[in-house]
Amino acid sequence: MTPTRVYVRGAVLDAVGEPVVVRALELIRPRAAEVRVRMLASGVCHSDLHVRDGEWDRPTPIVMGHEGAGIVEAVGPGVDSPRIGDLVALSWLIPCGTCRSCRRGHVWACPDSPSYRHALLDGEIPFRTAHTGQPIRAYCAIGTMAEAVVVPAVAAIPVPPGTDPAVAALIGCCVTTGVGAVLKTAAVQAGASVAVIGLGGVGLSCVMGAVVAGASRIVAVDRVASKLDAATWVGATDTLLAEGDAASTVRALRDLTDGGPDFVFEAIGRPDTVELAIAALPLGGTAVLVGLTPLGARASFEAYPFVDGSRRILGSNYGFAVPAIDFPQYAAWTLDGRLPVGRLIDRRLGLDDVEEAFAAMRRGEYTRQVIDFG
Ligand SMILES: NC(=O)c1ccc[n+]([C@@H]2O[C@H](COP(=O)([O-])OP(=O)(O)OC[C@H]3O[C@@H](n4cnc5c(N)ncnc54)[C@H](O)[C@@H]3O)[C@@H](O)[C@H]2O)c1
Ligand SMILES: [Zn+2]
Ligand SMILES: [Zn+2]
Repeated sequence: MTPTRVYVRGAVLDAVGEPVVVRALELIRPRAAEVRVRMLASGVCHSDLHVRDGEWDRPTPIVMGHEGAGIVEAVGPGVDSPRIGDLVALSWLIPCGTCRSCRRGHVWACPDSPSYRHALLDGEIPFRTAHTGQPIRAYCAIGTMAEAVVVPAVAAIPVPPGTDPAVAALIGCCVTTGVGAVLKTAAVQAGASVAVIGLGGVGLSCVMGAVVAGASRIVAVDRVASKLDAATWVGATDTLLAEGDAASTVRALRDLTDGGPDFVFEAIGRPDTVELAIAALPLGGTAVLVGLTPLGARASFEAYPFVDGSRRILGSNYGFAVPAIDFPQYAAWTLDGRLPVGRLIDRRLGLDDVEEAFAAMRRGEYTRQVIDFG
């Protein structure tokens, strides 16, 4: 017998700037083209912290989390894929399927995604508080910081059996974002020199992507020394502690890369490090902006040498991902050792520890924290 109601615990942000609290929630049953996923792991990404701290404008109340994996435990009528029992990584960008970007296959640039309404495809909101029945949205329409979620079937991408669920969770955001920024957005060529500024889950994934691309030098930059060790473990050839002013970091980057890195990836989301990334470029160099700033933030650069030197700036959302193709590929690369994603995970916590995880992230501690539902 299928239970008529499913109750779960979920980490809810009642209002931006307030602490996340774990609440008992009622979850709707999967309808046509929807599935229910029993969560196994949810990574804690800085994009969750941007929302928590009110740097972005998002509707509340909302179940947090957008980097997760679990097992499909129920499917709605007519759903052929995924199947019950599949291990799936969840995509935080669900394409509308009809806009100009989607028609071109550029699903990462879909502006009409239900993910931006934090609701299911028809606007239905998947969670209710168990006691009052108040609707609670799901961040990016997946809200991975709950024991189970109901998502569109297209958002639940099967990954090979044997993939560590925590690794599969990270494929849902930071791995796809960072590896894809290098391999897809920038299409870094073998032999190119690369710098990565900011070494959280996203920046370290840029480092791993640069290794796969065959970059000749990979300079990893952070203001926290322990992050430099983590970068070395995943393949950086050189590290740089950003402790002085921007000009000295730029000089050091140029010294390490014969006049400046061919590609600089900014994986923090601060105007000053965006400007640093652009300032470090050699002639013909490319800055790839992956970090997301608070809304309204601006960065500037001197235009003449930028044009005269044929430099480029690229924005990269979700690593230009086509999740149904890229998630299984990245998962296969974790299984054959090409992407050592497991090394990013240096802290596992429970659902009640989300605020503690955010506090550690603000302090620059840990490379990737994962909520373990097991
Ligand atoms: N473009 C996308 O699609 C996408 C997807 C996911 C995340 N993001 C964004 O990427 C950024 C990084 O996410 P994360 O989860 O890896 O964050 P994180 O907080 O885990 O890592 C950020 C790193 O930057 C370092 N840092 C901070 N200020 C610095 C400075 N001034 N100089 C040098 N290093 C500094 C920190 O020590 C930390 O290691 C966030 O802005 C996030 O919102 C973008
Ligand atoms: Zn993320
Ligand atoms: Zn679209």
